[in-house]
Amino acid sequence: MDNLDQIVSEAQVAFAAISDPDALEQAKARFLGKSGQITELLKGLGKLPPEEKKTAGAAINVAKTAVENALNARREAIRKAALEARLAEEALDVTLPGRAEARGGLHPVTRTLERIESLFASIGFEVADGPEIEEDFHNFTALNTPEDHPARSMHDTFYLQNPDGTLAEKVLLRTHTSPIQARYMQAHVAKYGQLEKMPEIRIIAPGRVYRVDSDATHSPMFHQVEGLWVGENVSFADLKGVIADFLKSFFETDDLTVRFRPSFFPFTEPSAEIDVAFMSGALKGRWLEIAGCGMVHPNVLKIAGIDPEKYTGFAFGFGPDRLTMLRYGVNDLRLFFEGDLRFLRQFA
Ligand code: FA5
Ligand code: MG
Repeated sequence: MDNLDQIVSEAQVAFAAISDPDALEQAKARFLGKSGQITELLKGLGKLPPEEKKTAGAAINVAKTAVENALNARREAIRKAALEARLAEEALDVTLPGRAEARGGLHPVTRTLERIESLFASIGFEVADGPEIEEDFHNFTALNTPEDHPARSMHDTFYLQNPDGTLAEKVLLRTHTSPIQARYMQAHVAKYGQLEKMPEIRIIAPGRVYRVDSDATHSPMFHQVEGLWVGENVSFADLKGVIADFLKSFFETDDLTVRFRPSFFPFTEPSAEIDVAFMSGALKGRWLEIAGCGMVHPNVLKIAGIDPEKYTGFAFGFGPDRLTMLRYGVNDLRLFFEGDLRFLRQFA
């Protein structure tokens, strides 16, 4: 059986010289494959006389096991070596200095919008939304704005073009958030109009608006927050109370005075501009316009399908960009929209 020992040691030497797993499987075939040396010997057993068969078979099986053991040991060694090489390659050098994480922050106007939303939510206002590309009907007509009103002119409003360059039929970038009033009231009536008593409407609607305007306090794109409260016996006194409370909470001071200056909007009657003055601090004594407001005009209620004899309401439209300027002492509105990180980082 010298031959068997030789085969075993030949296999051990061959396996030991291999460090590639595919090559190892090929080397295995030479000994244990279909016509491998061990396999051939096993096939030859049949030709032996019965009395030799048993011992020869046992000896071949011992050799076979030895070859298999050598093979498995080598497989395991190759697998370990590969794993170690990978670990070494992927090792982290924990002594390297860390890479600083760039931290983002909310835009100051976004902070203001979120603050307004949460303050109004605390007195039962829901947030409503509407499209920035708006129809002339919702932006003007449904808000009782006459055909010849100057806001409808090309000087003041961005109208949209068709792909062929012609003017789109009465489609524009909304000039205020007030169209959301019209849309919301219509939807509310569609939902509850048949009820004896219509549930109250109490919403605020923040969003971007667009006008042909540009200087330190006017930007072609700016933000507004619309407010609307419609129900039974909603009065101008409610409007004043809600606004005064809101402003004191927003600026976190009782040290301010709110003034309702008579004004005109086609969609409210009576109408007012809301001015605020601080009694202390850098802006002490200056009046600043921050919103328009008024009692919802009966025509606006009627167009939406609400009976103005039964229900009344107030509405307001804040300029949150201005509120942000006041809150943080920023004197040029354009800074908010230039994306200069040196400016924005101050709020992060
Ligand atoms: C309106 O837009 C009315 N829709 C407001 C309103 C709503 C009245 C509901 C009655 C009932 P006005 O054009 O005044 O009104 O704008 C409202 C506020 O938006 C202003 O007080 C001001 O704070 C802000 N604002 C107006 N134009 C600009 C601008 N170009 N840039 C920045 N803020 C502006
Ligand atoms: Mg105004």
